[in-house]
Amino acid sequence: MEQDVLQGLVKDRATIERDGILVAKEIAEKTVWDKLALENPTDAVISAKDEADAARKSATQIHDIKIHLHDTDVLLDCGAGYGRVAKYLLPTMPLGGYIGVDSAYQMLSLFKERYQLNKAEQQTPLLLLNADIHTLPLKDASVDVAIVCAVFLHNHKDVVKQAVAEIKRVVKPGGRVLVYSSFPRAATLMGMQGLAYQALLNLIGRPFKNGPVRYYWRREIMHLFDGFTEVELKPTGYAVIPKSLIFLPRVLDSVWRLVIANPINKLLEIITPKFLKYYCATHFDVVAKR
Ligand SMILES: C[S@@+](CC[C@H](N)C(=O)[O-])C[C@H]1O[C@@H](n2cnc3c(N)ncnc32)[C@H](O)[C@@H]1O
Repeated sequence: MEQDVLQGLVKDRATIERDGILVAKEIAEKTVWDKLALENPTDAVISAKDEADAARKSATQIHDIKIHLHDTDVLLDCGAGYGRVAKYLLPTMPLGGYIGVDSAYQMLSLFKERYQLNKAEQQTPLLLLNADIHTLPLKDASVDVAIVCAVFLHNHKDVVKQAVAEIKRVVKPGGRVLVYSSFPRAATLMGMQGLAYQALLNLIGRPFKNGPVRYYWRREIMHLFDGFTEVELKPTGYAVIPKSLIFLPRVLDSVWRLVIANPINKLLEIITPKFLKYYCATHFDVVAKR
């Protein structure tokens, strides 16, 4: 049998080639996080220069998470990474338990190493699970609150749909699901550009190149949370000018962001009236009640 006939047996768009080996797209998407965990975890999870920058960028989110928690709660952190949320949350608010789930083993190793050195975090019992969030190895109704921070945007939309169903299964009735920085808005210039880029990748048969960010319409998010009793979508962030031009080479794109997009967006944010800010939000955060 010829090589290309053999290759023809593989499902369309199910793999990417890496040094002559076909890697299933799910595997390829995951291993990148192990690599990033070893290189620069703070930059990977929250685009922070260093720990101080990560702490500053995390402050509002940690404050918001605390509002939804009781000190006896078991909190499930879906796609926990190196435990950024636990690091800033647990020393000031010990909980009944903390479960960190992540498909990247290296990220969880960093989480474990830090937890074992940090007495303040150890007031809360910790369970780390190396698993996918769309197939959670947890019992039904086993946690009080679940958080998802900066995870869904990297996942295929089918995976997100399954993950939301899984999270609903493991959260107790009446419990909350909090989703941050995970649903970038399609109805923005950045979103339009992202949708165009994704359409182009689909057309050339490479839909998973560089793990493109997935953009969402409001109605898509509402639909994902159909089975929940209460769902609040909170428009968050601000940008009119796209922060990145994905068709530009990396260096020019950085120049665009630093010299043009960031300063103009900062200025526009100051002068935009409050009632118009909704339309300039970069993403939706979600608070849903099971
Ligand atoms: C941008 S980082 C965010 C980490 C953490 N939530 C935070 O906000 O600091 C994304 C993390 O999600 C994990 N991840 C992505 N997709 C996942 C999936 N389907 N199941 C489990 N973990 C996933 C990655 O391994 C990575 O550690």
